Amino acid sequence: MLNVLITGASAGIGRATAIRLATGGATIALCARRADRLDQVAAEIRAAGGEALPVVADVTNAAEMQAFVDRALAQLGRLDVAICNAGFGIYGTIEMIGAEQMQRLLDVNFMGTYNTARAVVPLFRQRGRGHLIIVSSIAGKRGIPYMGAYSATKFAQVGLAESLRAELEESGIHVSIVFPVSTDTEFFEVMTGHSGFATRAAGPRQTAADVADAIARTIARPAAEVYPYRKARGLSVLNALAPGFTDRIVKRWGRRPI
Ligand SMILES: NC(=O)c1ccc[n+]([C@@H]2O[C@H](COP(=O)([O-])OP(=O)(O)OC[C@H]3O[C@@H](n4cnc5c(N)ncnc54)[C@H](OP(=O)(O)O)[C@@H]3O)[C@@H](O)[C@H]2O)c1
Repeated sequence: MLNVLITGASAGIGRATAIRLATGGATIALCARRADRLDQVAAEIRAAGGEALPVVADVTNAAEMQAFVDRALAQLGRLDVAICNAGFGIYGTIEMIGAEQMQRLLDVNFMGTYNTARAVVPLFRQRGRGHLIIVSSIAGKRGIPYMGAYSATKFAQVGLAESLRAELEESGIHVSIVFPVSTDTEFFEVMTGHSGFATRAAGPRQTAADVADAIARTIARPAAEVYPYRKARGLSVLNALAPGFTDRIVKRWGRRPI
């Protein structure tokens, strides 16, 4: 039976993944900032016969993330998989997104991933096994209009993950990066709150359950890159071959204020 640690599991992709993996028999250590929402997810897991350890922790706080990982290890005995999922977005041109907002995006999306990986990778190294899964975005492979600030943090996650993956090759430790497309979660409400207005995307969509299923498959059969919406891999290939042409495609898919 696997022990899985997930950040940002009080909602959306993290919640769906926690429930999906628990249903498959995994024990889940889950963190987020909202205690009531975390407890609801833990209760759902227990009601389905699974085991859950909910811990209130903010991914931007390195000490809290270390304490979360230490507690999960102490209570569960070992960690097999860690999923760096917590994140949020802000919509807008570079002129619209101030330095404080940019910093906040970096703190949650990139430093949150770094803080989690930094606490977990030494445990994986000690055991000579483990699986680090980083939830980036298709915007971490290819910039999307008006999502530049968010996209930059998602590319930063990829740089860290690719380097780690190459460092850890043949160590028994896997590193996977997940590239979801637009997914029906609270992400858009949160983004509206930070951006000051609502937006709508025209590109492909998927459900949080689709992403959770893709993550479950990569735990069973580790892959370097995971595209829960399979055709999105084509965008990444096309961008490598013809980035100027790809600008026109992503412009059509770009988010627009409602
Ligand atoms: N939805 C999409 O279209 C989409 C597409 C591609 C990639 N993604 C990525 O998928 C990941 C999950 O997003 P989602 O769509 O599931 O959004 P969501 O429904 O808004 O969920 C975000 C989760 O992150 C947690 N979180 C946010 N800030 C945190 C912090 N500082 N410390 C700890 N937890 C924090 C939230 O919990 P609390 O508020 O309780 O802390 C929540 O559980 C993100 O990394 C996002 O960039 C989303």
